[in-house]
Amino acid sequence: MTRTLVMLNGSPVRGSSVDLLLQAMAAGAEEAGGRATHVYCNELAIKPCQACGPDATSGYCIFEDAMDPIYAALESAHAIAVGSPIYFDTVSAQLKLVMDRCNCVTPLTRAPGGGFEFRPKWARTRRGVFVTACSAAHPHDLAERSVRGFLKWVGAKWEETLAWRHEDEDPGSVATRPELIARARAIGKRLIESPPLEP
Ligand SMILES: Cc1cc2nc3c(=O)[nH]c(=O)nc-3n(C[C@H](O)[C@H](O)[C@H](O)COP(=O)(O)O)c2cc1C
Repeated sequence: MTRTLVMLNGSPVRGSSVDLLLQAMAAGAEEAGGRATHVYCNELAIKPCQACGPDATSGYCIFEDAMDPIYAALESAHAIAVGSPIYFDTVSAQLKLVMDRCNCVTPLTRAPGGGFEFRPKWARTRRGVFVTACSAAHPHDLAERSVRGFLKWVGAKWEETLAWRHEDEDPGSVATRPELIARARAIGKRLIESPPLEP
């Protein structure tokens, strides 16, 4: 079966630095014989998580919307890349909507003997990476922490962050840094070539 790299892109700008890095990652994944699915979160109609509580549905979510194909893509993903610009020190709202709605991949569930437990819907076998862009003067550690927690929740393990920390305000300015584009491509290739993680 062809391995798929699922890429969640939280930037609202097509051709932005995050977009260009993810596109390079997709090219690397395809070079390795895999496939890349690029999800532009900004272009989807996604309702925010309602914190509906344990056992609210036997499916993923009480809503049926643009999240449905994302759940399916994440479930069959070989690896996951999460991309976002830094907005007020964390990920963009477009990505955060998707992240919150994935809480139900490891839902709080009533335990057979009483009480509650988090029960993952699938094993943690996927490798994960974070791709970001921000001002050179600002940190991206809060966003990375958030993304690492998210990756764990959707059956993945964070392995590295690729950050374009820039002085300029030009959309897509990472194109002036071929070594970062090459690194993104190499990461995409590595993610597809690497075996699944032991659960
Ligand atoms: C609403 C908003 C909030 C932002 N907040 C931050 C911030 O806290 N720290 C930072 O370094 N850059 C911040 N920026 C700048 C973007 O992170 C930066 O321009 C980034 O490179 C955009 O990536 P993209 O072009 O790939 O979407 C903000 C931009 C916007 C639109």
